[in-house]
Amino acid sequence: MALQVELIPTGEIIRVVHPHRPCKLALGSDGVRVTMESALTARDRVGVQDFVLLENFTSEAAFIENLRRRFRENLIYTYIGPVLVSVNPYRDLQIYSRQHMERYRGVSFYEVPPHLFAVADTAYRALRTERRDQAVMISGESGAGKTEATKRLLQFYAETCPAPERGGAVRDRLLQSNPVLEAFGNAKTLRNDNSSRFGKYMDVQFDFKGAPVGGHILSYLLEKSRVVHQNHGERNFHIFYQLLEGGEEETLRRLGLERNPQSYLYLVKGQCAKVSSINDKNDWKVVRKALTVIDFTEDEVEDLLSIVASVLHLGNIHFAADEESNAQVTTENQLKYLTRLLGVEGSTLREALTHRKIIAKGEELLSPLNLEQAAYARDALAKAVYSRTFTWLVAKINRSLASKDAESPSWRSTTVLGLLDIYGFEVFQNNSFEQFCINYCNEKLQQLFIELTLKSEQEEYEAEGIAWEPVQYFNNKIICDLVEEKFKGIVSILDEECLRPGEATDLTFLEKLEDTVKHHPHFLTHKLADQRTRKSLGRGEFRLLHYAGEVTYNVTGFLDKNNDLLFRNLKETMCSSENPIMSQCFDRSELSDKKRPETVATQFKMSLLQLVEILKSKEPAYVRCIKPNDAKQPGRFDEVLIRHQVKYLGLMENLRVRRAGFAYRRKYEAFLQRYKSLCPETWPIWAGRPQDGVAVLVRHLGYKPEEYKMGRTKIFIRFPKTLFATEDALEVRRQSLATKIQATWRGFHWRQKFLRVKQSAICIQSWWRGTLGRRKAAKRKWAAQTIRRLIRGFILRHAPRCPENAFFLDHVRTSFLLNLRRQLPRNILDTSWPTPPPALREASELLRELCRKNMVWKYCRSISPEWKQQLQQKAVASEIFKGKKDNYPQSVPRLFISTRLGADEISPKVLQALGSEPIQYAVPVVKYDRKGYKPRSRQLLLTPNAVVIVEDAKVKQRIEYANLTGISVSSLSDSLFVLHVQREDNKQKGDVVLQSDHVIETLTKTALSADRVNNININQGSITFAGGPGRDGIIDFTTGSELLVTKAKNGHLAVVAPRLNSR
Ligand SMILES: Nc1ncnc2c1ncn2[C@@H]1O[C@H](COP(=O)(O)OP(=O)(O)O)[C@@H](O)[C@H]1O
Ligand SMILES: [Mg+2]
Repeated sequence: MALQVELIPTGEIIRVVHPHRPCKLALGSDGVRVTMESALTARDRVGVQDFVLLENFTSEAAFIENLRRRFRENLIYTYIGPVLVSVNPYRDLQIYSRQHMERYRGVSFYEVPPHLFAVADTAYRALRTERRDQAVMISGESGAGKTEATKRLLQFYAETCPAPERGGAVRDRLLQSNPVLEAFGNAKTLRNDNSSRFGKYMDVQFDFKGAPVGGHILSYLLEKSRVVHQNHGERNFHIFYQLLEGGEEETLRRLGLERNPQSYLYLVKGQCAKVSSINDKNDWKVVRKALTVIDFTEDEVEDLLSIVASVLHLGNIHFAADEESNAQVTTENQLKYLTRLLGVEGSTLREALTHRKIIAKGEELLSPLNLEQAAYARDALAKAVYSRTFTWLVAKINRSLASKDAESPSWRSTTVLGLLDIYGFEVFQNNSFEQFCINYCNEKLQQLFIELTLKSEQEEYEAEGIAWEPVQYFNNKIICDLVEEKFKGIVSILDEECLRPGEATDLTFLEKLEDTVKHHPHFLTHKLADQRTRKSLGRGEFRLLHYAGEVTYNVTGFLDKNNDLLFRNLKETMCSSENPIMSQCFDRSELSDKKRPETVATQFKMSLLQLVEILKSKEPAYVRCIKPNDAKQPGRFDEVLIRHQVKYLGLMENLRVRRAGFAYRRKYEAFLQRYKSLCPETWPIWAGRPQDGVAVLVRHLGYKPEEYKMGRTKIFIRFPKTLFATEDALEVRRQSLATKIQATWRGFHWRQKFLRVKQSAICIQSWWRGTLGRRKAAKRKWAAQTIRRLIRGFILRHAPRCPENAFFLDHVRTSFLLNLRRQLPRNILDTSWPTPPPALREASELLRELCRKNMVWKYCRSISPEWKQQLQQKAVASEIFKGKKDNYPQSVPRLFISTRLGADEISPKVLQALGSEPIQYAVPVVKYDRKGYKPRSRQLLLTPNAVVIVEDAKVKQRIEYANLTGISVSSLSDSLFVLHVQREDNKQKGDVVLQSDHVIETLTKTALSADRVNNININQGSITFAGGPGRDGIIDFTTGSELLVTKAKNGHLAVVAPRLNSR
């Protein structure tokens, strides 16, 4: 099949162009390779896909321009070596489909366009093949796409990794833990509609087959102040709105809740309960379903929701001051619900909300709270309840994610892939304790990043045997130390101030800070600043010069937030809670513990140190997220904002480190594979070691010694321009190669096709020949058998019928019968008939008779009445004359005519004389006188009764048939005849001698009319006739040369008849 590709404007995605089907993304590594190469060559338009290939790598402008070019083409991912830089597109680019996952599976990192999945796959493969733990660190500011990236990574692993043998549900749990955590830990902020308000590190455990078998989540510093207060345009955590919007009527009734969020003071501070991008109702359904997936029982869900509801009710608790300015709860209803939902005593709760228990010298004292203190206590309780529930939730999820199979051998050999989605650097108008913690966290991670990047870079050089050239970079350890150093660090000072007896305030803390770290180059306060900078600093503020930039913190609330105190009696009340979740969150041991709990900052510091340890033990991968604008708009590239992020993410620093030595490095195999066509010695196949091949290749390409170095397994190229020149040469070369490959391929293709056709033709031919041959052989065999049978039959033809001769006999019979059909006599006169075989003699005779009769019958049917009459007369003539009279044969072919004289030739008088008597026949005759034998011309007429002799118009003689005794005629060829008349009557003139030219016809007709057929005498020699009364005449007949009728001397009439050949 021909691979048709189309490069879409991004230069990175190819499509198979099909005339009938809609375009489809091409899959497979071939497709991917094509795209990657096109991206390299389209660098003018889409920039470089790896920042190390930037010619001017120290220029921030060039860096940002490259980002912009790519962003414009919707290419949101770019590498800095192994680090992935991602720009939030704020739109669905359709680049996380299953097809994309497949595209990035098992392909080499640099051979495909940059993508999150490439990072995911590389980490996963290292985990599987080298069995080393991995950590993907995703950083960036709020709304830059960290959480989104984490989700995509999880999805990638869930969908592409093999399923574990047991407990396949782990994949679902891993995925479903997310919506639950997001519901409780995410909120809409000004920067991000789904901002994570806690840090998250998630471990995914894989067994030795690479199947996900479990997971573990660490959460960091939930922003619990949000529970009681939100800035304008922000919301509380999603779960509150989801419950109110999506919860069933029954549930809400049970929890004593109204659907309207405006009814709850904790939800109205930001004045934005509704957000267009969020569908709380749907999200609620998702969360409800997810809860069941992660092993929540119905009771646990109920308990959890009770807590959520109780926070809302807490928010609506109001106080009023009594006469002594002591706070009193005024909202009994809320108190009632709280009592029920939290499972605590109403009175205890009421007391706890309005009093403070102090233990002094072993004595418990209850001191009432004023209005402000009561509100503070209430909010503190709400925050504590919510944050501890969140911690419980994480622990619960962890129990669900924990491999159920911890004892199995596969568990023992698990490897771990960590995903770190932690809050990015934050700078606000007003920065408080939370920002301080968050920025400190980023500072730590940056340090780790630099350390690990440099380390890996150095390691690679060492491994490759290339001299390490030290890189100058900014080490932010100094800032980390400023924050975390024991005794002298900001955290220590804060803790000290919190624990110190006496009137410690936020401002005394600031003073202490100024005292202790005043000389630190990264620390500044109003007092320490010079004249100019002082203006930008308030008195209650301090400024830290973070690696990412300056941040000014307002100390207000630092102590309080660090202490995170919950009045003892509130704690006690909660410890007595009958809500199982609450009783787990508030442990009684906490009450008896004399030691002060760790401050928030210290806890955070410890957990960060622990996190750094965790991350250090793993092989890192980095995703650096950038937010293109603050308006959450697609397609907008806010340069100022981006420059700021590029700076504080330390991307330039990162690039500098990466580029300090070489811009490009590639394994010899990969390099040779890609560029071998540029050198005749390496093309098409290099037989030796790849390293030697590359050496030959670069020499051929004219690389100068300072442009590259050969490592143990890789070639290092110092400048991008060297690579690009090679790349351009490849592009040119490829054109000609493509033509050549095309031609070769076509030749090959068509030859293959031809060979196939030829093969087929031969096959058909031989088959057909075989068939023909077999048919012929069968025919011959049959013929031989037939002949043999016939011969044998022939030999035995006279023997009685037996199997040997049966065939022959049958054959003879059938062939006789079949032949007979063709040899039947043609007409009645044809007497031929084929000779039948002996067995058919009788049948043949019967058939012959049948045939004859049939012909006769047919003939008879076909003759007309006239012809019948003619034949009858001819038959009579034959009877009379055949073989007896010489001129008879001459008459045979001549037809008898009905009459020889027409009516007009007969005188009317004669007709008149005949009266009604019809004339049947008339013929001119010659009459010989009886005496002198004179010939006289007469007419002879036949009527039904008589022969009438007519002379012109007169009837000369009428001979009644009754008187006609006979007729005499000679046997010779003459035409004379004598009519013998009875002579009893004297009136009769005697016999009449006549001559007719049609003697046979005339006599036949006369004989028939007169019924004298048997009375015709044919005489030899002479005829005697009665000449008249008592006188006879004689006619002598002789043969001569010609007819002569004369009166002989003897008085006889001598007739010489011509001799005819027929006689
Ligand atoms: N790769 C991406 N593709 C499309 N939209 C994204 C992507 N990354 C982030 N977003 C959008 O930006 C919003 C904020 O991203 P999020 O991951 O929550 O940011 P962070 O966790 O860094 O604060 C998301 O809700 C989503 O709408
Ligand atoms: Mg997030």
